[in-house]
Amino acid sequence: MKRFFLNIVFLILAINSVKSQTKTPDNLDKKWWKEAVVYQIYPRSFKDSNGDGIGDLKGIISKLDYLKSTGITAVWLNPIYESPNDDNGYDISNYREIMKDFGTMADFDLLLKEMHKRNIKLIMDLVVNHSSDENKWFQESRKSRTNKYRDYYYWWPAEKGTPPYRWSFFDVNSNAWKYDQQTNSYYLHYFSQKQPDLNWNNPKLREEIYSMMKFWLDKGIDGFRMDAFQFISKDPTFPELPKETTSNSQNMIKYYMHGAHLHEYIQEMNREVLSKYPNAMTVAEGAGDSAQEAMNFVDPARKELNIAYHFESVDVGKNILDYGLVKYKKMFEDYDTEFKDKGWLAIFLANHDQPRMVNKFGSDTPEFRELSSKMLSTFILTMRGTPFYYNGDELGMNNIKFDKIEDYNDVDTKNKYEHLKETGGDLKAFLEGQKQTSRENSRTPFQWNDTKNAGFTTGKPWLKVNPNYVSINEAAENKDPNSVLNYFRKLTKLRKENPVLVYGKFDLVDAENPDIFAYTRELNGEKLLIILNFTGKNTTLKSDLDLKKAELILSNYKEITQDFNLKPYESVIYKLK
Ligand code: GLC
Ligand code: CA
Repeated sequence: MKRFFLNIVFLILAINSVKSQTKTPDNLDKKWWKEAVVYQIYPRSFKDSNGDGIGDLKGIISKLDYLKSTGITAVWLNPIYESPNDDNGYDISNYREIMKDFGTMADFDLLLKEMHKRNIKLIMDLVVNHSSDENKWFQESRKSRTNKYRDYYYWWPAEKGTPPYRWSFFDVNSNAWKYDQQTNSYYLHYFSQKQPDLNWNNPKLREEIYSMMKFWLDKGIDGFRMDAFQFISKDPTFPELPKETTSNSQNMIKYYMHGAHLHEYIQEMNREVLSKYPNAMTVAEGAGDSAQEAMNFVDPARKELNIAYHFESVDVGKNILDYGLVKYKKMFEDYDTEFKDKGWLAIFLANHDQPRMVNKFGSDTPEFRELSSKMLSTFILTMRGTPFYYNGDELGMNNIKFDKIEDYNDVDTKNKYEHLKETGGDLKAFLEGQKQTSRENSRTPFQWNDTKNAGFTTGKPWLKVNPNYVSINEAAENKDPNSVLNYFRKLTKLRKENPVLVYGKFDLVDAENPDIFAYTRELNGEKLLIILNFTGKNTTLKSDLDLKKAELILSNYKEITQDFNLKPYESVIYKLK
């Protein structure tokens, strides 16, 4: 009898294991945002429609056919809300209005309509760790200690002494507390002085934010990218920082972010807002320090967010090869292991806070700029996770490397420079470093054609155009079948036509190889092999896989020999048979 039961148990186990091995695309947990190719637009630099030198919504509308032609399926717009632009829109003075530089609400409604007409989704930036100091809430809050908006922000009364030190990302004095005479108190600003932190411990504030989110979702937007949201929950008692705390130590997480109520607030947001818009997608900027922490934000059972984008994929210092490719690959493998069965990740190598992808992960020399841009695009479009692709990378745009501080507009670079100046630091070395690391490098105007100012504006551009626009521009690349742009188009098409690239499992090949990032993607017996040479030299992959019968799908070289010897920055995709 016992045996009989055991046999039944084994039978059930066997059936289940067969079932899980033969997962078809139809019983995968399919979602539009897993299949999407998200394109990030930095609106200030994309296209100016009225000659004031600043990109705007009408400019974006005029380029929607271009966007459609690249094969992207969703757009993430950096903040376009009303803002005095201390941090280019990340300091919001009115969450329900459009920044005048960018246009009107009517322009916005038209943009959304025209995007949806083309089946392109729209994801908005949600910046709610802080507002602008010019926001009505803050204007009220600073008036008196009894104002009804007082507790929308963090205040420290001066009679309690100077507040416990907190380091600020963008402050000239590197101090996150600013004294405000009117009420003899300090307010907290993790970012610039014009970005006071919102107090999420106040339920009224949370309600306001949820209602604002509904305002945009009711207009029909398709989701939010959550800015700096790891910081929203803070310990309001602000305990003294241990001395050894630095910007990237564990203490940073403990004392600055991931407060006790972080997940509770996100779950509340899900209950109050997101659950009512089941097709909307949310992507978390930064999601902790480990794959496990990232999972906590997007594990479907926890009912929080959908996609995690973690910083480890760009936190590699100035250059990936100095950092070490083996370590880098291991990091992706660890994340993939954690996310194999549930949750979802974003794949990205650049954004508006980073230098250009080709400078950091490839090479922008005349010899290798195009090759390495194509190789990196292949990486983003063939990994497991939703690609977040930064505007201009599809042209292989590269760092501008400004020489002078006057050329910079960014609060980050400018304030750090000021701080160094005041404290007698090495300004020359700082400026040299910024050529590689400054986020301004990726914010220069989009290069549309070889006419004045790259066709970005008829006026004076708000930030200098990279002089190489005469040869690197959309019009020229559109005509050239071998351009980076047309290669990108092939990749988006490939991803669309091959669910294996979206849902297929990921396995590293030759993990210890210091030059090559290679992996297979596999679904329902279909198996692709992707091989990417991250160096400017010839190198060889070690693998037992059989290439003899493999079908070549795509490569960035015209002629390739079907073996494991790779040319500089070569990328190749095979279908294994
Ligand atoms: C995020 C944004 C960055 C901004 C900061 C403050 O990191 O991506 O551009 O400066 O938050 O809002
Ligand atoms: Ca304009």
